Amino acid sequence: MFLVRHLDALSADYYEDTPVGRIIYPLQDPIEEIAYFGSDLVPSILRALLTTLFALTAMVLLNPLLTLTIFPLIPAFILTREYFRHKLVIVFDQVQQRQKTWADFLHEHFSAVLPIQLLGRETRQERRAFCLLGEIAHSQQRLFRTGAYFSVYTSLFIVMAMAVAVGFGGWSVFVGRLSVGKLVVFYTLVTYLFEPLSAVTEIYTRIQRVFANVRQVQTVLSYRPALDNRAGSVQLPESQWHLEIRGLTFQYAKQRGRLRVPSLRIQAGEQVALVGENGAGKSTLAKLIVRIYDVGSGSICIAGEDVRNVTLKSLRRTVCYLARDPVLFQGTLSSNLRFVTPSASDAELENALQRAGLSVLLASLKDGLRQSVGPQGCQLSGGQRQRLAIARAMLQGPKILILDEATSCLDPVSEQLVLRNLRNYLPESTLIVVSHRLSTVLAFPRILVLAEGQIVEDSCPEHLARHSDFFANWFPSPHSGV
Ligand SMILES: Nc1ncnc2c1ncn2[C@@H]1O[C@H](COP(=O)(O)OP(=O)(O)OP(=O)(O)O)[C@@H](O)[C@H]1O
Ligand SMILES: [Mg+2]
Repeated sequence: MFLVRHLDALSADYYEDTPVGRIIYPLQDPIEEIAYFGSDLVPSILRALLTTLFALTAMVLLNPLLTLTIFPLIPAFILTREYFRHKLVIVFDQVQQRQKTWADFLHEHFSAVLPIQLLGRETRQERRAFCLLGEIAHSQQRLFRTGAYFSVYTSLFIVMAMAVAVGFGGWSVFVGRLSVGKLVVFYTLVTYLFEPLSAVTEIYTRIQRVFANVRQVQTVLSYRPALDNRAGSVQLPESQWHLEIRGLTFQYAKQRGRLRVPSLRIQAGEQVALVGENGAGKSTLAKLIVRIYDVGSGSICIAGEDVRNVTLKSLRRTVCYLARDPVLFQGTLSSNLRFVTPSASDAELENALQRAGLSVLLASLKDGLRQSVGPQGCQLSGGQRQRLAIARAMLQGPKILILDEATSCLDPVSEQLVLRNLRNYLPESTLIVVSHRLSTVLAFPRILVLAEGQIVEDSCPEHLARHSDFFANWFPSPHSGV
């Protein structure tokens, strides 16, 4: 639970760099192994320790000299154990690395089975699966071999100790320093001393596995969210959510291009379209507003408050960002709609669906709101999925709504209708729409044009159509009939 909470708090930099299989790996087997530490492992170690201690004490009391001859074998045993410990750590880590790669592969493969079938690349994937499983088998073989050597060397120490006990003890009996009865008891104690030590071999292997898993969990816990609530973060006020950007620069770690917005103000309730060619920086700007990333320099303020000084919870309640690919969950229409607003009534859900243009769909569903939408909403069309995400956003009632091509799958007429309904439903909210579609953009009173990370135009559509080369080149004239 703690691990899930920690992972939930990590930021985009972690999730954009780590494949999903790798993220969920420490949440599976390793947790069970670590749980084993508290149940079976600790009692086993205690039992082994107590038996060894008892045997050693009894041996010293019985014959200190004979015990002394066996004693040097114990540090030698510990040194050998250290040597194998080091080897086992390396091999366990290798096994885990390969299992993580396998988990990544499985996740990627089963998230894209249909496209793989369409591309006819099943054989390639099977070959890759075969190679990965081969690598896992190979590293597990190495692990098994190291464990086997460990057992052999441990047994060797036991045999040596017994030989010493029989040899030196026999000689002591022969010269009359030890009775036969005491030798038999001593010999039995030697087995008592080394039996738990050999059981330690098994325990030891298990401990290494537990430690390897603990290292996994530690690695995850060592990641810190790149952005977090600052000390003294505040809530956004209930009104005046104007957006102000000053001296903003931002650059992705692995990209040369830079986003620069020296100054931009969007009034509360304003409706703005954001356009520009692919890679111009539209989504990046939107993500900076909702604080998926932090600005490099400058500031983004909502209601006069720098978003970095606002609690993430308050910011994300106020600003809703909808991307092109809607995020839906396995479940029903209603469970998806209630994801953010669990207390919404059925009537409210139906109203939102109707405004998002889904009433015809709803009427056609056998189970209505309780109809399953399949994993990630795969039983809906692309446009229906986007509409459902918009309906959910309406229920959420954000003060600033950013649609980043979130209506791109809707036909132009429906898109206009849905956007109009959205404006009517959230009349006081600021609406920022990123779009590549002329009909959508022209319906907005203010258009921002982004090129190579900079806002190059900021005007109304009429002005841009008449005076802007960039706008004229980017979109064909509305009067050209194209
Ligand atoms: N997570 C990321 N890590 C590194 N670089 C990124 C990341 N996301 C985007 N970029 C880069 O930043 C630049 C701007 O990308 P952005 O997604 O903002 O473009 P966009 O204007 O939304 O384009 P599109 O119209 O294709 O959606 C691009 O060059 C892109 O390669
Ligand atoms: Mg984009």
